[in-house]
Amino acid sequence: MQTATKSTSLVEIPAWKALKAHAEQVRGTHLRDLFAQDPARGERLTAEAEGIFLDYSKNRVTDETLKLLVELAGQVGLRERTEAMFTGQKINITENRAVLHVALRAPKGESIVVDGEDVVPEVHKVLDKMAGFADRVRSGAWRGHTGKRIKNVVNIGIGGSDLGPVMAYEALKHYSQRDLTFRFISNVDGTDFAEAVQDLDATETLFLVASKTFTTQETMTNARSAREWALKTLGDESAVAKHFVAISTNATEVAKFGIDTENMFGFWDWVGGRYSMDSAIGLSTMIAIGPDGFRELLAGFHAMDVHFRTAPLEKNLPALLGLLTVWYTEFFDAQTVAILPYDQYLKRFPAYLQQLTMESNGKHVTLDGETVSYQTGPIYWGEPGTNGQHSFYQLIHQGTRLIPCDFIGFAKSLNQLGRHHDMLMANVFAQAEALAFGKTAEQVKAEGTADWLVPHRVFEGNRPSNTILADKLTPATLGKLVALYEHAVFTQGVVWNIDSFDQWGVELGKVLATKILGELEATDEPKLDHDSSTKSLIQRYRSSK
Ligand code: F6P
Repeated sequence: MQTATKSTSLVEIPAWKALKAHAEQVRGTHLRDLFAQDPARGERLTAEAEGIFLDYSKNRVTDETLKLLVELAGQVGLRERTEAMFTGQKINITENRAVLHVALRAPKGESIVVDGEDVVPEVHKVLDKMAGFADRVRSGAWRGHTGKRIKNVVNIGIGGSDLGPVMAYEALKHYSQRDLTFRFISNVDGTDFAEAVQDLDATETLFLVASKTFTTQETMTNARSAREWALKTLGDESAVAKHFVAISTNATEVAKFGIDTENMFGFWDWVGGRYSMDSAIGLSTMIAIGPDGFRELLAGFHAMDVHFRTAPLEKNLPALLGLLTVWYTEFFDAQTVAILPYDQYLKRFPAYLQQLTMESNGKHVTLDGETVSYQTGPIYWGEPGTNGQHSFYQLIHQGTRLIPCDFIGFAKSLNQLGRHHDMLMANVFAQAEALAFGKTAEQVKAEGTADWLVPHRVFEGNRPSNTILADKLTPATLGKLVALYEHAVFTQGVVWNIDSFDQWGVELGKVLATKILGELEATDEPKLDHDSSTKSLIQRYRSSK
Protein backbone atom coordinates (compact mmCIF):
# COMPACT_ATOMS: atom_id res chain seq x y z
CA MET A 1 0.00 0.00 0.00
CA GLN A 2 1.21 3.48 -0.85
CA THR A 3 1.14 5.70 2.20
CA ALA A 4 1.64 9.41 2.52
CA THR A 5 5.07 10.82 3.11
CA LYS A 6 5.36 14.15 4.84
CA SER A 7 5.55 16.88 2.25
CA THR A 8 6.35 20.55 2.46
CA SER A 9 3.25 22.57 3.20
CA LEU A 10 1.97 24.41 0.16
CA VAL A 11 2.25 27.73 1.93
CA GLU A 12 6.00 27.16 2.39
CA ILE A 13 6.64 26.59 -1.31
CA PRO A 14 8.64 29.48 -2.83
CA ALA A 15 6.33 30.04 -5.81
CA TRP A 16 3.34 30.12 -3.47
CA LYS A 17 4.96 32.76 -1.30
CA ALA A 18 5.88 34.73 -4.39
CA LEU A 19 2.32 34.48 -5.69
CA LYS A 20 0.95 35.66 -2.37
CA ALA A 21 3.11 38.80 -2.47
CA HIS A 22 2.48 39.30 -6.17
CA ALA A 23 -1.32 39.07 -5.70
CA GLU A 24 -1.16 42.24 -3.64
CA GLN A 25 0.13 44.15 -6.69
CA VAL A 26 -2.33 42.62 -9.11
CA ARG A 27 -5.29 43.19 -6.81
CA GLY A 28 -5.21 46.94 -7.42
CA THR A 29 -4.89 46.62 -11.19
CA HIS A 30 -7.95 46.82 -13.40
CA LEU A 31 -8.39 44.68 -16.50
CA ARG A 32 -8.96 47.98 -18.34
CA ASP A 33 -5.37 48.95 -17.50
CA LEU A 34 -3.95 45.55 -18.37
CA PHE A 35 -5.59 45.69 -21.80
CA ALA A 36 -4.59 49.34 -22.29
CA GLN A 37 -0.95 48.56 -21.47
CA ASP A 38 -0.79 45.71 -23.97
CA PRO A 39 -2.87 46.05 -27.13
CA ALA A 40 -1.99 42.48 -28.12
CA ARG A 41 -3.14 40.98 -24.79
CA GLY A 42 -6.33 39.54 -26.29
CA GLU A 43 -4.33 37.57 -28.84
CA ARG A 44 -1.38 36.78 -26.63
CA LEU A 45 -3.10 35.32 -23.61
CA THR A 46 -4.72 32.50 -25.50
CA ALA A 47 -3.94 28.86 -26.07
CA GLU A 48 -5.31 26.33 -28.50
CA ALA A 49 -5.11 22.59 -28.71
CA GLU A 50 -7.07 19.91 -30.49
CA GLY A 51 -9.57 22.45 -31.78
CA ILE A 52 -10.30 23.89 -28.34
CA PHE A 53 -9.44 27.57 -28.09
CA LEU A 54 -8.99 29.19 -24.70
CA ASP A 55 -8.95 32.96 -24.32
CA TYR A 56 -7.76 33.64 -20.77
CA SER A 57 -6.81 37.26 -21.37
CA LYS A 58 -9.77 38.53 -19.36
CA ASN A 59 -8.24 37.19 -16.17
CA ARG A 60 -6.68 39.35 -13.50
CA VAL A 61 -3.21 38.14 -14.30
CA THR A 62 0.01 39.53 -15.68
CA ASP A 63 2.85 37.73 -17.39
CA GLU A 64 4.49 37.54 -13.98
CA THR A 65 1.39 35.84 -12.53
CA LEU A 66 1.45 33.24 -15.25
CA LYS A 67 5.15 32.66 -14.81
CA LEU A 68 4.69 32.16 -11.07
CA LEU A 69 1.70 29.87 -11.53
CA VAL A 70 3.72 27.71 -13.90
CA GLU A 71 6.59 27.73 -11.39
CA LEU A 72 4.13 26.65 -8.72
CA ALA A 73 3.00 23.75 -10.90
CA GLY A 74 6.67 22.77 -11.26
CA GLN A 75 7.41 23.08 -7.56
CA VAL A 76 4.41 20.96 -6.52
CA GLY A 77 5.43 18.30 -9.03
CA LEU A 78 2.52 18.51 -11.46
CA ARG A 79 4.51 16.76 -14.18
CA GLU A 80 5.64 13.94 -11.93
CA ARG A 81 2.15 13.45 -10.52
CA THR A 82 0.70 13.44 -14.04
CA GLU A 83 3.13 10.71 -15.03
CA ALA A 84 2.24 8.80 -11.89
CA MET A 85 -1.42 8.94 -12.89
CA PHE A 86 -0.88 8.01 -16.53
CA THR A 87 1.37 5.09 -15.64
CA GLY A 88 -1.08 3.52 -13.23
CA GLN A 89 0.55 4.31 -9.90
CA LYS A 90 -1.77 4.15 -6.93
CA ILE A 91 -2.21 7.89 -6.49
CA ASN A 92 -5.60 7.48 -4.82
CA ILE A 93 -3.78 6.72 -1.62
CA THR A 94 -6.71 6.52 0.79
CA GLU A 95 -8.29 3.75 -1.29
CA ASN A 96 -4.96 2.32 -2.47
CA ARG A 97 -6.06 2.53 -6.10
CA ALA A 98 -4.67 3.58 -9.42
CA VAL A 99 -6.52 6.41 -11.17
CA LEU A 100 -6.77 5.42 -14.78
CA HIS A 101 -9.70 7.01 -16.53
CA VAL A 102 -7.09 7.86 -19.19
CA ALA A 103 -6.83 4.11 -19.91
CA LEU A 104 -10.51 4.06 -20.87
CA ARG A 105 -9.66 6.03 -23.97
CA ALA A 106 -6.21 4.70 -24.70
CA PRO A 107 -6.10 3.44 -28.29
CA LYS A 108 -5.64 -0.25 -29.01
CA GLY A 109 -1.97 -1.12 -28.91
CA GLU A 110 -1.07 1.22 -26.05
CA SER A 111 -0.07 -0.41 -22.84
CA ILE A 112 -0.82 0.66 -19.27
CA VAL A 113 0.11 -1.78 -16.57
CA VAL A 114 -1.64 -2.02 -13.22
CA ASP A 115 -0.62 -4.71 -10.73
CA GLY A 116 1.35 -6.44 -13.44
CA GLU A 117 -1.49 -6.49 -15.96
CA ASP A 118 -1.92 -4.44 -19.12
CA VAL A 119 -5.40 -2.97 -18.79
CA VAL A 120 -5.79 -1.58 -22.32
CA PRO A 121 -6.77 -4.90 -23.98
CA GLU A 122 -9.39 -5.39 -21.23
CA VAL A 123 -10.79 -1.93 -21.91
CA HIS A 124 -11.17 -2.74 -25.60
CA LYS A 125 -12.73 -6.11 -24.88
CA VAL A 126 -15.49 -4.38 -22.94
CA LEU A 127 -15.85 -1.68 -25.59
CA ASP A 128 -16.30 -4.35 -28.25
CA LYS A 129 -18.90 -6.16 -26.15
CA MET A 130 -20.72 -2.85 -25.61
CA ALA A 131 -20.59 -2.13 -29.34
CA GLY A 132 -22.09 -5.51 -30.21
CA PHE A 133 -24.89 -4.98 -27.72
CA ALA A 134 -25.52 -1.36 -28.72
CA ASP A 135 -25.75 -2.36 -32.36
CA ARG A 136 -28.27 -5.06 -31.57
CA VAL A 137 -30.47 -2.68 -29.60
CA ARG A 138 -30.19 0.05 -32.26
CA SER A 139 -30.99 -2.29 -35.13
CA GLY A 140 -33.84 -4.02 -33.34
CA ALA A 141 -32.06 -7.36 -33.32
CA TRP A 142 -32.21 -7.40 -29.51
CA ARG A 143 -35.80 -8.25 -28.70
CA GLY A 144 -37.74 -8.06 -25.47
CA HIS A 145 -39.26 -11.08 -23.75
CA THR A 146 -42.40 -10.99 -25.90
CA GLY A 147 -40.42 -10.58 -29.11
CA LYS A 148 -41.02 -6.88 -29.46
CA ARG A 149 -38.31 -4.46 -30.43
CA ILE A 150 -36.78 -2.31 -27.67
CA LYS A 151 -37.91 1.30 -27.97
CA ASN A 152 -37.05 2.65 -24.53
CA VAL A 153 -33.71 2.62 -22.76
CA VAL A 154 -33.80 3.53 -19.07
CA ASN A 155 -30.54 4.09 -17.21
CA ILE A 156 -30.79 3.59 -13.47
CA GLY A 157 -27.84 5.00 -11.57
CA ILE A 158 -26.82 7.93 -9.39
CA GLY A 159 -23.84 10.27 -9.09
CA GLY A 160 -21.23 9.31 -11.64
CA SER A 161 -23.44 6.47 -12.84
CA ASP A 162 -26.09 9.01 -13.81
CA LEU A 163 -24.68 12.48 -14.32
CA GLY A 164 -22.23 11.48 -17.06
CA PRO A 165 -24.80 9.42 -18.98
CA VAL A 166 -27.50 12.12 -18.74
CA MET A 167 -25.12 14.91 -19.60
CA ALA A 168 -23.68 13.03 -22.57
CA TYR A 169 -27.12 11.99 -23.83
CA GLU A 170 -28.35 15.58 -23.71
CA ALA A 171 -25.11 16.95 -25.16
CA LEU A 172 -25.13 14.52 -28.07
CA LYS A 173 -28.87 14.28 -28.67
CA HIS A 174 -28.30 15.70 -32.15
CA TYR A 175 -26.41 12.50 -33.01
CA SER A 176 -28.79 10.11 -31.28
CA GLN A 177 -31.05 7.51 -32.82
CA ARG A 178 -34.37 9.26 -32.63
CA ASP A 179 -36.67 6.26 -32.63
CA LEU A 180 -35.26 5.28 -29.25
CA THR A 181 -36.45 7.00 -26.08
CA PHE A 182 -33.93 7.51 -23.29
CA ARG A 183 -34.80 8.08 -19.65
CA PHE A 184 -32.58 8.41 -16.58
CA ILE A 185 -33.67 7.50 -13.07
CA SER A 186 -31.43 8.48 -10.19
CA ASN A 187 -33.33 9.78 -7.19
CA VAL A 188 -34.65 7.43 -4.51
CA ASP A 189 -37.69 9.70 -4.50
CA GLY A 190 -40.33 7.43 -6.04
CA THR A 191 -41.48 10.32 -8.17
CA ASP A 192 -38.38 10.01 -10.32
CA PHE A 193 -39.17 6.38 -11.08
CA ALA A 194 -42.92 6.86 -11.48
CA GLU A 195 -42.60 9.77 -13.89
CA ALA A 196 -39.85 8.11 -15.93
CA VAL A 197 -41.85 4.96 -16.65
CA GLN A 198 -45.44 6.20 -16.59
CA ASP A 199 -45.82 6.29 -20.38
CA LEU A 200 -43.52 3.34 -21.18
CA ASP A 201 -44.51 -0.15 -22.25
CA ALA A 202 -42.52 -2.73 -20.30
CA THR A 203 -42.42 -5.09 -23.28
CA GLU A 204 -40.39 -2.48 -25.18
CA THR A 205 -38.24 -1.22 -22.31
CA LEU A 206 -34.64 -2.07 -21.48
CA PHE A 207 -33.17 -1.12 -18.10
CA LEU A 208 -29.47 -0.46 -17.72
CA VAL A 209 -28.63 -0.77 -14.04
CA ALA A 210 -25.46 1.28 -13.68
CA SER A 211 -23.58 1.12 -10.42
CA LYS A 212 -19.89 0.72 -9.85
CA THR A 213 -20.47 -0.96 -6.49
CA PHE A 214 -23.95 -2.40 -7.15
CA THR A 215 -24.75 -1.64 -3.53
CA THR A 216 -25.83 2.01 -3.74
CA GLN A 217 -29.12 2.30 -1.89
CA GLU A 218 -30.87 4.58 -4.38
CA THR A 219 -29.88 2.57 -7.43
CA MET A 220 -30.69 -0.82 -5.97
CA THR A 221 -34.05 0.44 -4.72
CA ASN A 222 -34.88 1.83 -8.16
CA ALA A 223 -33.63 -1.34 -9.84
CA ARG A 224 -35.86 -3.50 -7.62
CA SER A 225 -38.83 -1.26 -8.39
CA ALA A 226 -38.01 -1.53 -12.09
CA ARG A 227 -37.97 -5.31 -11.88
CA GLU A 228 -41.32 -5.34 -10.11
CA TRP A 229 -42.76 -2.88 -12.61
CA ALA A 230 -41.50 -4.85 -15.60
CA LEU A 231 -42.55 -8.23 -14.27
CA LYS A 232 -46.06 -6.95 -13.59
CA THR A 233 -46.45 -6.87 -17.37
CA LEU A 234 -43.97 -9.51 -18.44
CA GLY A 235 -44.98 -12.01 -15.77
CA ASP A 236 -42.08 -14.34 -15.92
CA GLU A 237 -38.72 -14.00 -14.05
CA SER A 238 -36.98 -15.20 -17.19
CA ALA A 239 -37.94 -11.84 -18.79
CA VAL A 240 -35.25 -10.17 -16.66
CA ALA A 241 -32.56 -11.45 -19.02
CA LYS A 242 -34.07 -9.56 -21.95
CA HIS A 243 -34.96 -6.36 -20.11
CA PHE A 244 -32.12 -5.80 -17.63
CA VAL A 245 -28.42 -5.43 -18.11
CA ALA A 246 -25.91 -4.41 -15.47
CA ILE A 247 -22.93 -2.08 -15.63
CA SER A 248 -20.70 -2.65 -12.66
CA THR A 249 -17.40 -3.71 -11.20
CA ASN A 250 -19.16 -6.11 -8.84
CA ALA A 251 -20.15 -9.36 -10.56
CA THR A 252 -21.14 -11.02 -7.29
CA GLU A 253 -23.77 -8.40 -6.45
CA VAL A 254 -24.98 -8.34 -10.07
CA ALA A 255 -25.60 -12.09 -9.95
CA LYS A 256 -27.29 -11.75 -6.53
CA PHE A 257 -29.67 -9.22 -8.03
CA GLY A 258 -30.66 -11.76 -10.64
CA ILE A 259 -28.95 -10.34 -13.70
CA ASP A 260 -27.01 -12.90 -15.69
CA THR A 261 -23.36 -11.81 -15.66
CA GLU A 262 -23.38 -12.54 -19.40
CA ASN A 263 -25.47 -9.37 -19.55
CA MET A 264 -23.00 -7.40 -17.47
CA PHE A 265 -20.59 -4.80 -18.77
CA GLY A 266 -17.64 -4.45 -16.48
CA PHE A 267 -15.18 -1.83 -15.46
CA TRP A 268 -12.54 -1.59 -12.81
CA ASP A 269 -11.80 -0.12 -9.40
CA TRP A 270 -9.31 2.28 -10.98
CA VAL A 271 -12.19 4.15 -12.64
CA GLY A 272 -13.71 6.66 -10.22
CA GLY A 273 -17.48 7.07 -10.42
CA ARG A 274 -17.21 10.69 -11.54
CA TYR A 275 -14.60 9.72 -14.12
CA SER A 276 -16.62 6.87 -15.61
CA MET A 277 -18.80 8.28 -18.39
CA ASP A 278 -16.38 6.87 -20.97
CA SER A 279 -16.37 3.38 -19.41
CA ALA A 280 -19.21 0.86 -19.67
CA ILE A 281 -21.19 3.42 -17.66
CA GLY A 282 -21.49 5.16 -21.04
CA LEU A 283 -23.52 2.27 -22.48
CA SER A 284 -26.63 4.48 -22.79
CA THR A 285 -24.50 7.03 -24.65
CA MET A 286 -23.23 4.34 -26.99
CA ILE A 287 -26.75 3.04 -27.64
CA ALA A 288 -27.87 6.61 -28.35
CA ILE A 289 -25.07 7.72 -30.69
CA GLY A 290 -23.78 4.36 -31.88
CA PRO A 291 -20.41 2.68 -31.39
CA ASP A 292 -18.68 4.88 -33.98
CA GLY A 293 -19.90 8.04 -32.27
CA PHE A 294 -18.74 6.64 -28.93
CA ARG A 295 -15.30 5.91 -30.35
CA GLU A 296 -15.14 9.51 -31.59
CA LEU A 297 -15.98 10.64 -28.07
CA LEU A 298 -13.14 8.49 -26.72
CA ALA A 299 -10.76 9.84 -29.35
CA GLY A 300 -11.63 13.36 -28.19
CA PHE A 301 -10.86 12.45 -24.59
CA HIS A 302 -7.59 10.86 -25.65
CA ALA A 303 -6.50 13.85 -27.71
CA MET A 304 -6.88 16.07 -24.64
CA ASP A 305 -5.08 13.49 -22.48
CA VAL A 306 -2.08 13.59 -24.82
CA HIS A 307 -2.14 17.38 -24.87
CA PHE A 308 -2.24 17.54 -21.06
CA ARG A 309 0.56 15.07 -20.68
CA THR A 310 2.88 16.61 -23.24
CA ALA A 311 2.20 20.31 -23.91
CA PRO A 312 4.33 22.90 -22.13
CA LEU A 313 2.49 24.21 -19.09
CA GLU A 314 2.36 27.77 -20.50
CA LYS A 315 0.23 26.42 -23.37
CA ASN A 316 -1.44 23.58 -21.58
CA LEU A 317 -5.20 24.13 -21.48
CA PRO A 318 -6.12 21.99 -18.45
CA ALA A 319 -3.11 23.20 -16.48
CA LEU A 320 -3.91 26.85 -17.22
CA LEU A 321 -7.56 26.41 -16.31
CA GLY A 322 -6.66 24.62 -13.10
CA LEU A 323 -3.98 27.11 -12.07
CA LEU A 324 -6.24 30.10 -12.71
CA THR A 325 -8.84 28.60 -10.41
CA VAL A 326 -6.19 28.13 -7.74
CA TRP A 327 -5.18 31.79 -8.19
CA TYR A 328 -8.68 33.14 -7.55
CA THR A 329 -9.53 30.64 -4.84
CA GLU A 330 -6.43 31.39 -2.81
CA PHE A 331 -5.64 35.01 -3.43
CA PHE A 332 -8.94 36.65 -4.39
CA ASP A 333 -11.19 34.84 -1.95
CA ALA A 334 -13.32 33.54 -4.81
CA GLN A 335 -15.63 30.86 -3.51
CA THR A 336 -17.23 29.69 -6.72
CA VAL A 337 -16.69 29.18 -10.43
CA ALA A 338 -19.58 29.71 -12.85
CA ILE A 339 -19.81 27.36 -15.84
CA LEU A 340 -21.78 29.08 -18.57
CA PRO A 341 -22.18 26.98 -21.70
CA TYR A 342 -23.84 28.84 -24.56
CA ASP A 343 -25.33 25.74 -26.05
CA GLN A 344 -28.64 24.28 -25.03
CA TYR A 345 -27.33 20.77 -25.57
CA LEU A 346 -24.88 21.39 -22.71
CA LYS A 347 -27.63 22.10 -20.24
CA ARG A 348 -26.49 19.35 -17.85
CA PHE A 349 -22.79 20.14 -18.23
CA PRO A 350 -22.62 22.37 -15.12
CA ALA A 351 -24.36 19.67 -13.03
CA TYR A 352 -21.93 17.08 -14.37
CA LEU A 353 -18.97 19.30 -13.52
CA GLN A 354 -20.32 19.84 -10.02
CA GLN A 355 -19.73 16.20 -9.14
CA LEU A 356 -16.45 16.06 -11.04
CA THR A 357 -15.00 19.10 -9.31
CA MET A 358 -16.64 19.15 -5.91
CA GLU A 359 -16.49 15.45 -5.08
CA SER A 360 -12.87 15.49 -6.25
CA ASN A 361 -11.53 18.58 -4.56
CA GLY A 362 -13.89 19.16 -1.64
CA LYS A 363 -11.21 17.98 0.80
CA HIS A 364 -9.88 19.50 4.01
CA VAL A 365 -6.78 17.44 4.65
CA THR A 366 -3.65 16.94 2.60
CA LEU A 367 -2.33 13.60 1.41
CA ASP A 368 -0.35 13.52 4.67
CA GLY A 369 -3.57 13.88 6.67
CA GLU A 370 -2.74 17.43 7.80
CA THR A 371 -5.56 19.97 7.91
CA VAL A 372 -4.97 22.42 5.09
CA SER A 373 -4.18 26.02 5.94
CA TYR A 374 -5.59 27.28 2.65
CA GLN A 375 -8.76 26.94 0.65
CA THR A 376 -9.42 23.93 -1.58
CA GLY A 377 -12.10 23.18 -4.19
CA PRO A 378 -14.47 26.02 -5.00
CA ILE A 379 -18.19 25.59 -5.63
CA TYR A 380 -18.99 24.99 -9.29
CA TRP A 381 -22.36 25.97 -10.60
CA GLY A 382 -24.00 27.34 -13.71
CA GLU A 383 -26.69 27.23 -16.33
CA PRO A 384 -26.66 27.62 -20.07
CA GLY A 385 -26.63 31.06 -21.58
CA THR A 386 -28.55 33.06 -22.42
CA ASN A 387 -31.04 31.89 -19.76
CA GLY A 388 -28.71 32.67 -16.88
CA GLN A 389 -28.37 36.26 -18.05
CA HIS A 390 -31.99 36.84 -17.12
CA SER A 391 -31.62 35.33 -13.71
CA PHE A 392 -28.32 35.34 -11.79
CA TYR A 393 -25.91 37.35 -13.93
CA GLN A 394 -26.97 40.52 -12.06
CA LEU A 395 -24.99 39.29 -9.08
CA ILE A 396 -21.96 38.41 -11.19
CA HIS A 397 -21.95 41.89 -12.74
CA GLN A 398 -22.81 44.09 -9.78
CA GLY A 399 -22.77 41.97 -6.63
CA THR A 400 -20.07 42.02 -4.00
CA ARG A 401 -18.52 38.66 -4.80
CA LEU A 402 -15.84 37.78 -7.29
CA ILE A 403 -17.10 34.95 -9.49
CA PRO A 404 -14.71 33.71 -12.17
CA CYS A 405 -16.71 32.52 -15.16
CA ASP A 406 -16.06 30.00 -17.92
CA PHE A 407 -17.97 30.86 -21.08
CA ILE A 408 -18.24 27.99 -23.55
CA GLY A 409 -19.40 28.55 -27.12
CA PHE A 410 -19.26 27.06 -30.61
CA ALA A 411 -18.63 28.65 -33.98
CA LYS A 412 -21.36 26.60 -35.63
CA SER A 413 -24.78 25.70 -34.40
CA LEU A 414 -26.18 22.21 -34.82
CA ASN A 415 -29.55 23.83 -35.47
CA GLN A 416 -29.01 26.77 -37.79
CA LEU A 417 -32.11 28.90 -37.44
CA GLY A 418 -32.24 32.43 -38.77
CA ARG A 419 -30.14 34.77 -36.63
CA HIS A 420 -30.32 32.67 -33.48
CA HIS A 421 -26.71 31.55 -33.41
CA ASP A 422 -25.20 34.98 -34.05
CA MET A 423 -27.40 36.34 -31.28
CA LEU A 424 -26.31 33.57 -28.94
CA MET A 425 -22.63 34.15 -29.63
CA ALA A 426 -22.99 37.94 -29.49
CA ASN A 427 -24.11 37.38 -25.92
CA VAL A 428 -21.05 35.28 -25.06
CA PHE A 429 -18.69 38.00 -26.22
CA ALA A 430 -20.81 40.80 -24.74
CA GLN A 431 -21.02 39.23 -21.31
CA ALA A 432 -17.30 38.57 -21.08
CA GLU A 433 -16.58 42.12 -22.26
CA ALA A 434 -19.07 43.68 -19.84
CA LEU A 435 -17.69 41.69 -16.92
CA ALA A 436 -14.10 42.68 -17.68
CA PHE A 437 -14.48 46.32 -18.61
CA GLY A 438 -17.73 47.40 -16.98
CA LYS A 439 -18.97 50.95 -17.27
CA THR A 440 -17.55 53.85 -15.32
CA ALA A 441 -19.51 56.59 -13.55
CA GLU A 442 -18.24 59.02 -16.20
CA GLN A 443 -19.66 56.87 -18.98
CA VAL A 444 -22.95 56.51 -17.16
CA LYS A 445 -23.14 60.28 -16.57
CA ALA A 446 -22.29 61.01 -20.18
CA GLU A 447 -25.42 59.08 -21.14
CA GLY A 448 -27.48 61.71 -19.30
CA THR A 449 -28.22 59.60 -16.22
CA ALA A 450 -29.44 61.56 -13.21
CA ASP A 451 -26.74 61.89 -10.56
CA TRP A 452 -28.64 59.91 -7.92
CA LEU A 453 -29.02 56.97 -10.32
CA VAL A 454 -25.41 56.88 -11.44
CA PRO A 455 -24.06 54.54 -8.72
CA HIS A 456 -26.82 52.04 -9.47
CA ARG A 457 -25.89 51.93 -13.11
CA VAL A 458 -22.13 51.70 -12.72
CA PHE A 459 -20.47 48.40 -13.60
CA GLU A 460 -17.15 48.10 -11.82
CA GLY A 461 -15.87 45.53 -14.26
CA ASN A 462 -12.60 43.74 -13.46
CA ARG A 463 -14.55 40.49 -13.21
CA PRO A 464 -12.57 37.63 -14.69
CA SER A 465 -13.62 35.08 -17.23
CA ASN A 466 -12.29 32.46 -19.61
CA THR A 467 -13.82 32.02 -23.03
CA ILE A 468 -13.62 28.52 -24.46
CA LEU A 469 -14.48 28.15 -28.14
CA ALA A 470 -14.70 25.15 -30.45
CA ASP A 471 -15.95 24.66 -33.96
CA LYS A 472 -19.07 22.70 -33.12
CA LEU A 473 -20.39 20.31 -30.55
CA THR A 474 -19.52 16.80 -31.70
CA PRO A 475 -18.82 13.61 -29.73
CA ALA A 476 -15.09 14.34 -30.08
CA THR A 477 -15.51 17.93 -28.86
CA LEU A 478 -17.46 16.73 -25.84
CA GLY A 479 -14.69 14.28 -24.99
CA LYS A 480 -12.12 17.05 -25.22
CA LEU A 481 -14.17 19.38 -23.02
CA VAL A 482 -14.72 16.78 -20.32
CA ALA A 483 -11.05 15.75 -20.32
CA LEU A 484 -10.11 19.44 -20.17
CA TYR A 485 -11.98 19.80 -16.89
CA GLU A 486 -10.89 16.40 -15.56
CA HIS A 487 -7.27 17.43 -15.88
CA ALA A 488 -7.92 20.94 -14.60
CA VAL A 489 -9.38 19.35 -11.47
CA PHE A 490 -6.32 17.10 -11.24
CA THR A 491 -4.03 20.13 -11.56
CA GLN A 492 -5.84 21.88 -8.72
CA GLY A 493 -5.68 18.76 -6.56
CA VAL A 494 -1.94 18.43 -7.10
CA VAL A 495 -1.39 22.05 -6.04
CA TRP A 496 -3.58 21.60 -2.97
CA ASN A 497 -1.84 18.29 -2.21
CA ILE A 498 -5.13 16.48 -1.66
CA ASP A 499 -6.54 13.14 -2.77
CA SER A 500 -8.85 14.16 -5.61
CA PHE A 501 -10.02 10.61 -6.13
CA ASP A 502 -11.65 9.50 -2.89
CA GLN A 503 -15.02 10.61 -1.50
CA TRP A 504 -15.15 9.79 2.19
CA GLY A 505 -17.36 12.82 2.72
CA VAL A 506 -20.39 10.97 1.39
CA GLU A 507 -20.16 8.14 3.92
CA LEU A 508 -21.48 9.56 7.20
CA GLY A 509 -24.81 10.65 5.73
CA LYS A 510 -25.26 7.21 4.14
CA VAL A 511 -24.66 5.42 7.46
CA LEU A 512 -27.00 7.70 9.39
CA ALA A 513 -29.71 7.39 6.73
CA THR A 514 -29.63 3.59 7.07
CA LYS A 515 -30.01 3.85 10.83
CA ILE A 516 -32.79 6.46 10.56
CA LEU A 517 -34.65 4.45 7.91
CA GLY A 518 -35.04 1.65 10.46
CA GLU A 519 -36.40 4.18 12.94
CA LEU A 520 -38.89 5.62 10.45
CA GLU A 521 -40.19 2.19 9.55
CA ALA A 522 -40.23 0.65 13.04
CA THR A 523 -43.70 -0.48 14.11
CA ASP A 524 -42.96 -0.08 17.82
CA GLU A 525 -41.86 3.31 19.11
CA PRO A 526 -38.07 3.21 18.51
CA LYS A 527 -35.52 4.33 21.04
CA LEU A 528 -34.00 7.38 19.35
CA ASP A 529 -30.38 8.05 20.04
CA HIS A 530 -29.98 11.42 18.32
CA ASP A 531 -29.65 15.11 19.13
CA SER A 532 -32.89 16.86 20.14
CA SER A 533 -33.45 18.35 16.67
CA THR A 534 -33.05 15.11 14.72
CA LYS A 535 -35.09 13.24 17.33
CA SER A 536 -38.05 15.58 17.14
CA LEU A 537 -37.94 15.68 13.32
CA ILE A 538 -38.10 11.88 13.26
CA GLN A 539 -40.97 11.87 15.76
CA ARG A 540 -42.85 14.50 13.79
CA TYR A 541 -42.44 12.53 10.55
CA ARG A 542 -43.49 9.27 12.20
CA SER A 543 -46.67 10.81 13.58
CA SER A 544 -47.67 12.51 10.34
CA LYS A 545 -46.61 10.07 7.61
O1 F6P B 1 -21.98 8.43 -2.88
C1 F6P B 1 -21.13 8.96 -3.84
C2 F6P B 1 -20.84 7.96 -4.91
O2 F6P B 1 -20.04 6.96 -4.42
C3 F6P B 1 -20.22 8.60 -6.14
O3 F6P B 1 -18.86 8.78 -6.01
C4 F6P B 1 -20.62 7.66 -7.20
O4 F6P B 1 -20.48 8.21 -8.48
C5 F6P B 1 -22.04 7.39 -6.82
O5 F6P B 1 -22.03 7.37 -5.42
C6 F6P B 1 -22.65 6.14 -7.34
O6 F6P B 1 -21.94 5.01 -6.97
P1 F6P B 1 -22.18 3.62 -7.69
O7 F6P B 1 -21.84 3.77 -9.12
O8 F6P B 1 -21.30 2.65 -6.97
O9 F6P B 1 -23.64 3.27 -7.52
